[in-house]
Amino acid sequence: MKVIMAMVMSLDGKTTKWRRSKIYEWTSPEDREYFSKLLKKQKVIILGRKTYEAAKTFITSASPSLKIVLTNDPKKYRLAEKTGQLEFVKDKPRRLIDRLRSKGFKTAMLIGGELTNTAFLKAGLIDEIWITIEPLLLGFGHGLYSDNKSSIPLTLFAVKKINRRGTLLLKYKFQKPA
Ligand SMILES: NC(=O)c1ccc[n+]([C@@H]2O[C@H](COP(=O)([O-])OP(=O)(O)OC[C@H]3O[C@@H](n4cnc5c(N)ncnc54)[C@H](OP(=O)(O)O)[C@@H]3O)[C@@H](O)[C@H]2O)c1
Repeated sequence: MKVIMAMVMSLDGKTTKWRRSKIYEWTSPEDREYFSKLLKKQKVIILGRKTYEAAKTFITSASPSLKIVLTNDPKKYRLAEKTGQLEFVKDKPRRLIDRLRSKGFKTAMLIGGELTNTAFLKAGLIDEIWITIEPLLLGFGHGLYSDNKSSIPLTLFAVKKINRRGTLLLKYKFQKPA
């Protein structure tokens, strides 16, 4: 099963503006349109609970597909849950991916945030990273991934400029360890 991580970040590698959780304050309209179309095409989307809290209206309206929100306290979200559409799950990344594979899913899209990305990357579960780079410097904020023990080599395989300011869509392949 292929797992693609998709995120938007500033040129200096920040995925949030300072401590603010609303990313649409600083991302371009072209990226929002691209991301919205991307979400609509997915059969399953995985995200962390804090990303869900930050963007639930956008995410739940953007895609009719299965959205899996990882949380250590799924019971808290029972009222919001809609089986097959919005599920709150406490699971290890590898177990979750194995479970999705056994249900017949071929691809999953992981959309953050940093904590959740880090868990999936450390488990070696990501095949591709699709990044939008917005041409601005934010100086301080969350990142894409955090670890002080390993670095991950990637290979660029697609580049597209989506507006006149130079917002870039970059696609990288992740070389999984043998
Ligand atoms: N620029 C972008 O593209 C982008 C994308 C996504 C998010 N963001 C931003 O990033 C921020 C959130 O990122 P974040 O790193 O703080 O948080 P996050 O990764 O969105 O969510 C972290 C939470 O997810 C749950 N979680 C993660 N892995 C789990 C597992 N294996 N099992 C059970 N629960 C698990 C835990 O929830 P509980 O605490 O409920 O246990 C954890 O506290 C927001 O401000 C958001 O706007 C930016």
